[in-house]
Amino acid sequence: MKNIILTGDRPTGRLHLGHYVGSLKRRVELQNSGEFDSIFIEIADAQALTDNAKNLEKVRKNVIEVALDYLACGIDPEKSTIFIQSQVPELCELTFYYLNLVTLSRLQRNPTIKEEIKLRNFETSIPVGFLTYPVSQAADITLFDANVIPVGEDQLPMIEQTREIVRSFNSLYGEIFVEPKAVLPDNKTAQRLPGIDGKAKMSKSLGNCIYLADEPEVIEKKVMSMFTDPNHLRVEDPGKVEGNPVFIYLDAFARDEHFAKYLPEYKNLEELKDHYRRGGLGDVKIKRFLNNVLQDELKPIREKRKKLEENIPEVLKILEEGTNKAREIGIRKMEEVKDAMRINYFKNSDLLLEVENKDN
Ligand code: TRP
Repeated sequence: MKNIILTGDRPTGRLHLGHYVGSLKRRVELQNSGEFDSIFIEIADAQALTDNAKNLEKVRKNVIEVALDYLACGIDPEKSTIFIQSQVPELCELTFYYLNLVTLSRLQRNPTIKEEIKLRNFETSIPVGFLTYPVSQAADITLFDANVIPVGEDQLPMIEQTREIVRSFNSLYGEIFVEPKAVLPDNKTAQRLPGIDGKAKMSKSLGNCIYLADEPEVIEKKVMSMFTDPNHLRVEDPGKVEGNPVFIYLDAFARDEHFAKYLPEYKNLEELKDHYRRGGLGDVKIKRFLNNVLQDELKPIREKRKKLEENIPEVLKILEEGTNKAREIGIRKMEEVKDAMRINYFKNSDLLLEVENKDN
């Protein structure tokens, strides 16, 4: 069996640190591991429209922003196929058949959908396209025979739903799809990075993000304004490390080299944590350190992004070539789907024979 990765993002805004630790960094590692036969990265503009039908411009503009973020982080178009969802119509075709394999109540039970409906105050008027986007996401994954799906934990219900659809399709029409597996980031704390305000999730709508494209001064300002342990009022006070956003970010980013470079009085994060717990370590000091760590991590990304921004036609060309490649594969897979479902009327003479036999 081939090892194929598919993953993607909705282009509703620039990507931020949460995306970076939760998925982008991992994708680049997987891409460079050489262990995969193909890698597809989808810019899910059609999915973004399921709750942005009135914000076409926002989605349109962010297609390029997200592509820039991908390339800046090290997604290499020679190794990974980046494509735009809406430009692969076979995805709609497959979704249309999948919709028959899923019940309304099953969709309404999807925990991520439930949460998103609440967040968007959709309770009384859920767009049908929105409710059914997990089905279209199943098409995204299976049209490319992807078996490995690197995502954040909020996407687990989508992968589970995809697996159910695959089982249902395979048992009804023939074994042509593989059940995909989600791959979560290994660093537990990175699975969901909180916002700089300590809210559970870094999210554009909450305004608590550090963006990959943020300028150094902006990053510094955001880090220095971060929430910490609310009971750690004076430097002498013992502080709490668990649930403290600054330490959660340090867990995700700080390496021993950073200590040697910026905070040599500590060998590693454990020592820093111990001191904070004991008391006598001020928030400003740990924030300054985090700022240095993040600046180191984000500088190469920002610089690469700036270079790419100077050549947008080249970025568009990468997207077009990736999309053409994805489409070729999608067309082939849809042929297989239609053969399995026997809705290939013009392809062979089965139907004609059946009709003729009936006449005899
Ligand atoms: N739903 C994903 C998100 O909101 C984006 C996405 C669309 C995706 N299609 C996908 C992720 C297929 C993984 C696989 O981030």
